[in-house]
Amino acid sequence: MERCSRVLIDDPAALRGRWKTAVPGFDALWLELGCGKGRFTADTAEQNPRELLVALEKVPDVMVMAMERCCERDLQNVRFIDGDALALPVLFEPDEVDRIYINFCDPWPKNSAAKHRLTAPGFLEIYETILKPEGEIHFKTDNLPLFDWSVESFENNGWTLSEVTRDLHANGPVGVMTDYEAKFYAEGVKINRLVARKERA
Ligand SMILES: C[S@@+](CC[C@H](N)C(=O)[O-])C[C@H]1O[C@@H](n2cnc3c(N)ncnc32)[C@H](O)[C@@H]1O
Repeated sequence: MERCSRVLIDDPAALRGRWKTAVPGFDALWLELGCGKGRFTADTAEQNPRELLVALEKVPDVMVMAMERCCERDLQNVRFIDGDALALPVLFEPDEVDRIYINFCDPWPKNSAAKHRLTAPGFLEIYETILKPEGEIHFKTDNLPLFDWSVESFENNGWTLSEVTRDLHANGPVGVMTDYEAKFYAEGVKINRLVARKERA
């Protein structure tokens, strides 16, 4: 962690409502939930130097690898938070975030644990609050039951879906891949993807 302290935000709650002024020079604030080892984080930051990408991960040992990847490439537009998505309301003010990435989140297959899925209604309420009115969620998973359940969760909670696919890479690789995605793609597993927006009343 210490070697990469430049990209770690020690007290992210202190930046609530002032991310763009505290880390100036960027057009938009993107948030990645559960970044894991950070292949997607590093590649997305590198390809989008005008956006500030904040990656949140609840397992520090994994996040260190993502931080190292970004430090090795000297990326200036990425920051890391060691924390849980449940804490988002204390980290970001309403309407502060332009885009949220949820990539290959844990499926929590038992129905009794459904509320822990990052696409569960309780999380969607949090995302709606911190996202700007025109903000978007970009969601990818290999897990078809989770994807189908998430489509319902978004739609039942008033989100509009676009770019819905159950075989993202049918015609060859599309977009930036995550670590999990690259592994699944190599194994021939189909990848599901959607973009969600919530119209304000
Ligand atoms: C299956 S891995 C996927 C990692 C990466 N997104 C990828 O696609 O390669 C899910 C990651 O999300 C993290 N995670 C799960 N729930 C989380 C939460 N509530 N808040 C923050 N991170 C979470 C896990 O620790 C894990 O690193």
